[in-house]
Amino acid sequence: MFDFDTVIDRRGTHSLKYDFAARRGMPDEILPLWVADMDFASPPAVLDALAQRIRHGVFGYSDAADGGYFNSLKKWYKKRFDWEIRPEWLVKTPGVVFAICAAIRGLTQPGDAVLIQQPVYYPFESVIKVNNRRLIVNQLILEDNRYRMNLEEMERQIIDEQVKLFILCSPHNPVGRVWSEKELTAVGRLCAKYGVYVVADEIHADFVYTGYRHKVFAAICPEFAQNCILCTAPTKTFNLAGLQISNIIIPNEKLRRIFKREIAKTGYSQPNLMGLLACQAAYEEGEAWLEELIKYLEGNLALVRKFLEEKLPKVHLVEPEGTYLIWMDFRALGLTDKELDELFVKKAGLWLDTGKMFGAGGVGFQRMNIACPRSLLQEALDRMEKAFCGL
Ligand SMILES: Cc1ncc(COP(=O)(O)O)c(C=O)c1O
Repeated sequence: MFDFDTVIDRRGTHSLKYDFAARRGMPDEILPLWVADMDFASPPAVLDALAQRIRHGVFGYSDAADGGYFNSLKKWYKKRFDWEIRPEWLVKTPGVVFAICAAIRGLTQPGDAVLIQQPVYYPFESVIKVNNRRLIVNQLILEDNRYRMNLEEMERQIIDEQVKLFILCSPHNPVGRVWSEKELTAVGRLCAKYGVYVVADEIHADFVYTGYRHKVFAAICPEFAQNCILCTAPTKTFNLAGLQISNIIIPNEKLRRIFKREIAKTGYSQPNLMGLLACQAAYEEGEAWLEELIKYLEGNLALVRKFLEEKLPKVHLVEPEGTYLIWMDFRALGLTDKELDELFVKKAGLWLDTGKMFGAGGVGFQRMNIACPRSLLQEALDRMEKAFCGL
């Protein structure tokens, strides 16, 4: 019913993915499969809502004027995650990374320890450092081609380093885990035991493959809800990153007050009008589109899996349970990181995210974004085959 096959030319559209290659030290004609946005148009209902507003022609200061915006969010979370949110819990921000920064500043002091589980989305590390907090890295463990948390080490680190805040990535970018309720409960209990705040980044919550289920961290029990800042957004799900809107949900009144104060310090007040409209339209009318998109992504994933098995059997796909970002293990090729990156950029003409960006545990891996038309993905795989055959 929806078209995910048509290749939309994104060049010349101010696209970070397509228009910044040279500025970021890449050849101009490189095929980009790095940054986490999709090459698909947003759902028709979103485009209609935006087009209607553009025809109106006035773009003054705006905010969610009635209950419609909140209700769309509430219904989405109830239906898809069986979680009830209350209107007063919601704080809108222009992005999740922006919110994580505010949470760090509000809940910790300079020099305090903040823990993350690497390999992980690289802005986690940079926002900790740029805010002069102490980075504590807890390495995920790769076992039987699946990552798990290292809670024994995490407990030691919490005690030894007096960790104040933990940034949870759930589902996890880049390792593709959709953490089970059991795993989330274990890590949540550990944080509660030692009074460590949890900032749960659940921006990828809507991308979960068949057989898996995302559990909202704050929905596990009231104790976790009271100890966390939950970061959500429609921007990955419906490809709206350029419209800058995210919904931060904070059930604890005191944490919410602290968080709002940090936001006020930045001077940010009302949200982006287009983001607001797109978010509401997407949550109200975008579900069928998302369901079909996930099937399409499963098809893309199957294509990559088959390709690696048949053509590059030494390269291992870490089977993703969610997200459209896949994590591939090239270590068996015995290349240095520099050699691997050069093969991708210079020989294959592909721009992926090199594993070491996600922390030392990512050395020898590459992250590839598969949210693109299948013909484009096939082109990328053909290029990979040419560059890597014989290795
Ligand atoms: C885990 C995670 N958090 C946050 C973001 C970015 O969110 P935002 O654009 O709302 O700051 C991304 C984008 O790739 C991500 O993967």
